[in-house]
Amino acid sequence: MHRSLVSISDLTDEEVTELIDLSKVFREVNSREIPKVPALRGKTVATLFFENSTRTRLSFELAATRLSADVLTFTLGSSSVSKGESLRDTAETIESLGADLIIMRHSSSGAVGLVGSWLDIPLVNAGDGAHEHPTQALLDAFTLMDQFETGPRLDGINVAIVGDVLHSRVARSNVQLMSRLGAKITLVGPPVLLPLDLSLWPVKVSHSLDEVLAGSDVLYLLRIQSERFSESLVPSLSEFAKSFSLNMERLAKAKKETVVMHPGPMIRGVEITGEVADSPQSLVRKQVENGVSVRMAVLYWLLGAGQERLEPIW
Ligand code: NCD
Repeated sequence: MHRSLVSISDLTDEEVTELIDLSKVFREVNSREIPKVPALRGKTVATLFFENSTRTRLSFELAATRLSADVLTFTLGSSSVSKGESLRDTAETIESLGADLIIMRHSSSGAVGLVGSWLDIPLVNAGDGAHEHPTQALLDAFTLMDQFETGPRLDGINVAIVGDVLHSRVARSNVQLMSRLGAKITLVGPPVLLPLDLSLWPVKVSHSLDEVLAGSDVLYLLRIQSERFSESLVPSLSEFAKSFSLNMERLAKAKKETVVMHPGPMIRGVEITGEVADSPQSLVRKQVENGVSVRMAVLYWLLGAGQERLEPIW
């Protein structure tokens, strides 16, 4: 049976630790003068993105290249989808071409799991609608473990996830993973941008960013993902920014060890000001950097190369 990574719930605690350990190995590879290993030589990895992306797609493609895999890139605009080809036929064509693994992003929640049920090769979910984005959560956890030196856990770390949680797959994957690792999470935003029923979520809720500043070790900001909803949920972006934008004045009310995170793309002036994004407390660039190592770990792990094969490979 092939494995896929569609949701954080696909991973046991031991597997999360294994992936974090592998990420460290690949971070060392990435620090070398020639950051490339032959681990996936002969394998073909395809990226199938039905939604726009900058960092996630480039990060996966760079990860595959650094593992010496061949990379097939599907681009929606120039594909036969515009001629009416179905999702199933598109995915099966990529499998028939010889892809050993597909990395997929789609605007519909559940689309990646559905494609996974049709194919015999592993899939990695690079974001499906407002459902999940598991590699983002893994790279965020990896970045925080490093920052706070908490080993393979996040025990006692207070994380505020701020903004448009309702439409955020990043928040859904992060809440699951961070809470399993021991972090305490508070969702912060206006009621219209938070899920209606949070009774099963392992979180606290606040409608005031100002109230959570002093008690948070991590301020994790989210973009308002207006492409995922039709009518306007906030009266105006400047109204939202007045209460929920992280600016320097607000950051000064947090502890000096508090860090700022954002999955990107950042909309400077809305959820975060440029000054905060570029401040020494911001981990945004670190997140992107760690993303490559984490995705190398995921690809290597899913393509069946057991950890025992690490040594002889390099
Ligand atoms: C996010 C996404 O696409 O879910 N970005 C990312 O992958 N780093 C968040 C967003 O689009 O706002």
